[in-house]
Amino acid sequence: MSYQTIHSPIDYGGLVLKNRIIFAPTSMGLPTEQWIERLRQIAAGGCAMIIVGDVPVTKHGFGLSLYSKKGFETYQRLARAVHEENCMLCAQLHQSDSNLKGMLKYIPGVLSKKISMEQLRELLNQEVGPYITNLSPEKIHKIIEGFGEAAVLAQKAGFDMVQIHGDRMCGSFSSTIYNHRTDAYGGSPENRARFAVEAIQAVRRRLPSIPIDYKLAIRQENPHYGNAGILEQELPIWIPLLEQAGVTSFHVTLANHGSLTDTIPPARHPDFGGEGCFLKFCNLVRRFTKLPICGVGGLSNPEFIENQLSSGRIDCAAMSRQLIADPNWPKKVLENQPETIQRCIRCNQKCLGGMMAHQGVHCIYERTKTK
Ligand SMILES: Cc1cc2nc3c(=O)[nH]c(=O)nc-3n(C[C@H](O)[C@H](O)[C@H](O)COP(=O)(O)O)c2cc1C
Repeated sequence: MSYQTIHSPIDYGGLVLKNRIIFAPTSMGLPTEQWIERLRQIAAGGCAMIIVGDVPVTKHGFGLSLYSKKGFETYQRLARAVHEENCMLCAQLHQSDSNLKGMLKYIPGVLSKKISMEQLRELLNQEVGPYITNLSPEKIHKIIEGFGEAAVLAQKAGFDMVQIHGDRMCGSFSSTIYNHRTDAYGGSPENRARFAVEAIQAVRRRLPSIPIDYKLAIRQENPHYGNAGILEQELPIWIPLLEQAGVTSFHVTLANHGSLTDTIPPARHPDFGGEGCFLKFCNLVRRFTKLPICGVGGLSNPEFIENQLSSGRIDCAAMSRQLIADPNWPKKVLENQPETIQRCIRCNQKCLGGMMAHQGVHCIYERTKTK
């Protein structure tokens, strides 16, 4: 097989990518030098763009801050390292929907190990609804402007593109499960879209030509998966609003706030264990947009991916765990040696498992030498 489409360039919302493979946003929890080196290796393996997961939009958000000297310089170094490998870099602009003040009361329980990390996650999830519903208009405005300010800093640091994280705070505002507001940010789908739309506009106003990707998190019923995000039947309203606000491409996936093993599904998952597990959501999105669509979720088989791209079902394929398992996937496919790829078996042991255990993201193959 020639894998012609995988290796063809694409205009991805105004940014030319050398091929169709993107490293999906992946928080790694690694020390800085290791993290930069890991992303450099992924870039050197031949993917066209790396999306850096969870870049905070406000000064005091979780994660490496664009607003601090140290954070900004680290992102600059990362951009240089990735660009030297002929790879593009995208910042996933992120605002958590966890109530920081609400978290404080759980700290003693966590420290004394009476509350496990899993239980903490569940407790925090229970607070998302009241937090989103009661957030003051002033705070909302500040966060929205933060998306714009962070985008400006990201571009200055060397990022080529930004992705609005459509899950987390945007996703919680989107969803009637969490958003019970009665003002302009709650109620109708148009009102629930307002937070995301204004966050996009805050970027577009400041940066008229930067490509803006939107992580479009879709939740489904029957069976129920995902609590944040957009329902399938709301897509015809949402997609035009996001486009008019300035989005130039969509990164489509299952919405969050169920269990992490639904959005990062292991091979044994009852509904999402297969190759290309979330591509059915791309079919829905395709009905309402002509913008490029990136699929993600359980993508690892070169033949399958080539078929999805060449049929036009998706325009790009994003991978997280497969490029952690073998950063050289794109090169090996280009050299027509797919049999040498270390295939991700979606066991989640050391990637998601490493993150949950605060040991950093690793892979069961890590000690094995790749060819
Ligand atoms: C360790 C780990 C960390 C992740 N961090 C993020 C993140 O920061 N932001 C995000 O939107 N998605 C994150 N994801 C989800 C991935 O972007 C991706 O959607 C998911 O893993 C499914 O793709 P895959 O089957 O190629 O791994 C993470 C996934 C993993 C495995």
